[in-house]
Amino acid sequence: MTATTGRVALVTGASSGIGAATVRLLAARGMRVVVNYLRSGTAAEEVVAGIEAAGGQAMAVQADVRETAAIESMVEQVQAAWGGIDVLVHNALTPYVIKPFQDMTWEELGGKLDDEMRAAFAVTKAVLPAMTEQGWGRIIYLGTGLGRRPREGMIALGTAKAALAQFARYLAQELGPRGITVNVVEPGPVEDTRMAHVLDEEHKQRQVAATPLGRLAHPGDVAQAVAFYASEDNAFMTGTTAAVNGGMAMY
Ligand SMILES: NC(=O)c1ccc[n+]([C@@H]2O[C@H](COP(=O)([O-])OP(=O)(O)OC[C@H]3O[C@@H](n4cnc5c(N)ncnc54)[C@H](OP(=O)(O)O)[C@@H]3O)[C@@H](O)[C@H]2O)c1
Repeated sequence: MTATTGRVALVTGASSGIGAATVRLLAARGMRVVVNYLRSGTAAEEVVAGIEAAGGQAMAVQADVRETAAIESMVEQVQAAWGGIDVLVHNALTPYVIKPFQDMTWEELGGKLDDEMRAAFAVTKAVLPAMTEQGWGRIIYLGTGLGRRPREGMIALGTAKAALAQFARYLAQELGPRGITVNVVEPGPVEDTRMAHVLDEEHKQRQVAATPLGRLAHPGDVAQAVAFYASEDNAFMTGTTAAVNGGMAMY
């Protein structure tokens, strides 16, 4: 029995991509995992079935992370079934427009900032009381390298994720005395995600050529970094960022 066995992890947006890889890995390490999703109920149930077939424990819960009431009811559902939430991985990717600033409206930029921060705010508020009470918690937010290094057309996502990363550092400062760590995982481009499908082959090859480790990330590579931050092994890292990008950007 490892120290992580039986811990409960809520992963937002776990019906596909990085979130799905993360719940599979956390479950394989003995955690009970909540597979949150918005629309893809069938995919979420498939993720749960795969985990159960491998001997793990998982439940799928639908909730829009932009809706405070939906998040609260999800957390209540988890608490009723499993007692509490020890680990929050906030990974859900809300929509955003890809276009230059020149063509962007305030509703597009401001809407993404509002969605990103509203969701992070609400999911964090919902899990904090139980973590505070037990004096132990692990919070991990999914950022992106685009929050540091601009790429054409990505101003809405990059600016919103930069805000999320600073939010995480403020929380790390405030929550450390309660035994709660807060960290950010910042992937570069990741294969086998919806985002990857919007890149053409030439663009992808340019990204591979710019990556010292010679390939793009897989969702499982990102999950490994999340799983470290989520575990008892991470006793003394908080307010940090893990770049999972094969060396494409170094900071
Ligand atoms: N893919 C990349 O190259 C890449 C690079 C850097 C960072 N990241 C970050 O990694 C995270 C995951 O990205 P991904 O590419 O793995 O995403 P993805 O494959 O597009 O999956 C997105 C997930 O978010 C869920 N979701 C979307 N809106 C939601 C909402 N309002 N409430 C609850 N769930 C919602 C989706 O659920 P439904 O399917 O049910 O709607 C789905 O499970 C994101 O935060 C992203 O910014 C990704």
